[in-house]
Formats: sequence, C-alpha cells, structure tokens
Amino acid sequence: MTQPLVATHPAHASPATDWWREAVIYQVYPRSFADANGDGMGDLPGITSRLPYLRDLGVDAVWLSPFYSSPQADAGYDVADYRVVDPMFGTLDDAVELIGEAHRLGLRILVDLVPNHCSDQHVWFQQALREGPGSRIRERFHFRDGKGPAGELAPNDWESVFGGPAWTRTKNPDGTPGEWYLHLFAPQQPDFNWEHRSVRDEFGSILRFWLDLGVDGFRIDVAHGLVKADGLPDLGDHERMRLLGNDAGPCFDQDGVHEIYRHWNTVFAEYAGERIGVAEAWAPTLERTANYVRPDELHQAFNFQYLATAWQAGPLREVIQGTLDAMRPVGAPATWVLSNHDVTRHATRFANPPGLGTQIREAGDRALGLRRARAASLLMLALPGSAYIYQGEELGLPDVTDLPDEVRQDPAYFRGAGQDGFRDGCRVPIPWSGTSAPYGFTQVEDGPSWLPQPEAWADLSVEAQTGRDGSTLEMYRSALALRRSHPSLGGTDNLRWLPSPDGVLFFERTAEDGPTFLCTVNVTDTPVTIDTPGKALMASNHTTTGNAQTVLPADTTVWWTTA
Ligand code: GLC
Repeated sequence: MTQPLVATHPAHASPATDWWREAVIYQVYPRSFADANGDGMGDLPGITSRLPYLRDLGVDAVWLSPFYSSPQADAGYDVADYRVVDPMFGTLDDAVELIGEAHRLGLRILVDLVPNHCSDQHVWFQQALREGPGSRIRERFHFRDGKGPAGELAPNDWESVFGGPAWTRTKNPDGTPGEWYLHLFAPQQPDFNWEHRSVRDEFGSILRFWLDLGVDGFRIDVAHGLVKADGLPDLGDHERMRLLGNDAGPCFDQDGVHEIYRHWNTVFAEYAGERIGVAEAWAPTLERTANYVRPDELHQAFNFQYLATAWQAGPLREVIQGTLDAMRPVGAPATWVLSNHDVTRHATRFANPPGLGTQIREAGDRALGLRRARAASLLMLALPGSAYIYQGEELGLPDVTDLPDEVRQDPAYFRGAGQDGFRDGCRVPIPWSGTSAPYGFTQVEDGPSWLPQPEAWADLSVEAQTGRDGSTLEMYRSALALRRSHPSLGGTDNLRWLPSPDGVLFFERTAEDGPTFLCTVNVTDTPVTIDTPGKALMASNHTTTGNAQTVLPADTTVWWTTA
C-alpha cells in the first residue's frame, strides 16, 4: 500500500456543542508564519492571507502566540499593553479582520493571555518604579526589601526559569539602591501580585475586551504560576525552578490559583458560543494538571508529560493511559501535543537519543527523526480528545540547530544556565514556496526574515509538498480528513488496548455504530509482523499490507478500519 489513502467515509456533522473536546488546534507563531509587509517579521495580515491554507489542512481552531504591544524582551511574552496590537504585527483592525475571516472560513481563534507577568514597560510597573518605595501601585507586583545589612541580597533564593536570580534590585527615584522585584522569567517580565484586587479586575476586563472582539478562547501562559506560596518562602531543598517536572515548590501550582480560573469560567459563560481557556500549566503530575480542567475551571490543559515522553513503547502507552485516567474523573478531554514554540521540534527530538530533554542542540539523524516524527504525529492524531499542531510540524520541519549566536533572540540563551535557551531553533519562519529563502514567507523576493532559513528547506515548502505522494503535508491533510470522517475517531474516552508484540502499540476505538478504528504503531527500529487487523486507511511510511499478515516497518504507524 502506498500511503496515504484518501478518506472514504461520509463526514459526520460538526457537533453543535463542545467543539473543543475533539478539536485540532493549530498554533501560529505570528513572527514566523507569514509576512505581508515585507519587513522580515510575520504579521496579522500575513496570517489572515494564509487562513485558507489552515482551513484546507483541516484544523478546527488556531491559537496565536502574543501579538500585543511589547518591547519583545521575550518575543512578545512581555506585554506592555494587553489591548493594543504591536505595530510590528499590525493594528487592532487587522486583529478584528483576522478573527472575522477565520470565522467566515469556519475556524475558531484562540489568543494568548499572559497573566503571570507583564513587561517592565507596562504603565503600572513604570509608575511603581517612578513613585518609589511605599507607592500603592507597587502592591500590584512583588516588591520586597533585600536581605543583608544593606539590603544587598535577594529577598529569597528563587531562581528565574531562564537562569539567574528571580529578583532584580531597583533604583530609587533618587538613584540609590532600592527594593527588589520578583520575575520568574526575564528581568523585563515582572510578576503580578494576584492577591491584589486590581490585578484580578484588570484581567477580567482584558478577557472581556478580547471576548467582545469575538475570540473563541485563550491559551493561558504560565497558568500555574499566578499564585505564590504565602510569604514567598525559600525554595530550600526543592529542585531549582524548571517548568516541567518541577516538584511541588512555592512558586508554581499553588492551590489558590484555582479560584482565579473558577472566576474566569463564569466570565466565559457570559458569552455565547462556548469560549474556552487552555492552561499552560506545567504541573508535576497528570493528576495535578487535571485540577485546572475541573468542570468549573478551564477547559483544556496542555499535556506536557506526553510531549516529554521518549519514542519508546512502554512509556508512551503509560502516558496515554495515565492521561485518560487522570482526565476521566474531571470529565475533561485529554489533549496531546508534540511541539510548540518553547521546545525542540519533535522531528529533531526523535532524531537524537532519548533522555536529552526538550532543548536539544544536535541535529541528530534527520531521516530517523522525520520517520519517527511522522509515526508520532499519526499516533497523536489517533488519540481521543484534542490535539495541538505547531506550525511547520505538518511540513516535517526540523529545528534549526546551527543558528549563529548573533541572530539568536531567546533571552534564555543569553542567561546561560536557564532551562530554555535554544528556542530560536523552532521559531525559524516556515517555508511556503520557491527554491530559496525567504521561501514565500515574505511577499518580497529575496526579502529578509528575522531568523535565517536553511538552504535545504526548498523541498519542505508547502508548495513542494502539496500533491506530492507521501509528503508529510499530505499525510497530515489525509489524517485530519479521516479524523473528521471516521465515526470512531470521535469521542473522548473510547480507546481500548489490544494485545501486541513487544515494542508495538495497538489500540482500537469504537463508536456506537459504524466501523471500528484501529491503530498500530511499531515503535522499534526493526520491522515487526502482525496479523492484519482490518483494511488499511493510511500509514506514516510505505507499508505493504498482506491478507493475513502485515509487516510493520520500523517506526511506523498504520491506521485501520474494520469496514
Ligand atoms: C511560557 C511561554 C514562553 C515564555 C514564558 C514566559 O512558557 O510559552 O514562550 O517565554 O511563558 O512568558
């Protein structure tokens, strides 16, 4: 069988409610998606012009990383004004047009909300600095006196996720050394104090501002960080702060954070059309993650445990089952994600040996990485619940691991010891067409791009892959079409494991009526023979199906149906 086969089932009617429970949500990183004005930086009009591509790809919704007014100390995750579009991305009118056009095409729009911290250029923070110690507006942040005889030591031992201390000392208006302020990320990202009424009110108002403009929901940045342990106690023996795999420390995942989301849930409910909140909550366990999606809180939470799982059958099966088990009691859909703007793309992670984490500097074995990435994507899209696609993964893009230092912009790269640091590699503008950079990313021939694109990307462009038998893009298109049309690929809790040889994942999904869907994944590096379980629908790699037995090639996923 050559893959992929074309979907043959009639489309099931799109559900009138709970659209998000099975949605495929595509993450657009605005800097790197499409540049309409030719300045080398992606923008909102560029995104709008490419929405038909996303509709044709077959996704349900689009999540946009921040495009708000920002000095860009952390690529827009340092917001100076939450209600203003940064001129580098366009205008508020452009945002309104984008939302309207998406809706016209049947796509929903989620925007990023960054409530844990703002930019040090935000008017509140600027006023707080200007007014000096004792200013009431300082209470909206975490300002503290330093320790030591002259206050020269940070108020506690917390470290920034990006490396270095989580505190920066201010200067008083008269120029003398002053109080310190807390920033879990870069110094240009002061943390808000969510115990303060004005902070809560302001974010209620920001939510409404965007809901009124028609957005369908929010991806909530650092959703587990808003509330800190009382008194900001030292970390002590706790591991240093990392986003993933943190034990329960004083900076993240405090129980008090959930009251905020219960409030936001009531705000979403005021609006027609099922507006949703998606938590970026790097909680220590799947059970703790499930707390964010209790029925009266947010709707989805990213499954970073899944993202961080190596390409190994045992751990994959465990995390899949663990996720379904953790979400069942709270009635939330599982979510699945393999890549985003903060981690090395999965085509590069899987090109390297396991155990290197989610920030990898080595290109590894590209062919191996792509083969596994395709198999992993087809596995992800076969799982019940909602799936996230990061722009460019549908093209099989690898990380760009050899960016020269002078073009890098990730603040963590320059702060050295931080958890992140190599995030520019997954943020390189995506190739649309043509044989040389900027590959249609900008409308201008030979125009600039804010990060350089590799020479070898011509073959990976949308244009090059469209209609090409077996291309990664066509594999995604077929998979998303089948996901919509196969009756058993709906539902959020209908997965059953079937007996399989070592190193092979084998499960079925069923619906009340209609054929059974089956998925086999050979996670090993050698071919494995299985009994042919049905009629093959598509495969991540060239697979020859036999009547009685089928040889699954190494690192290959095959989708099957009983009719
Ligand atoms: C989130 C974002 C990341 C950003 C950080 C600080 O983890 O995804 O890009 O640097 O928050 O806002």
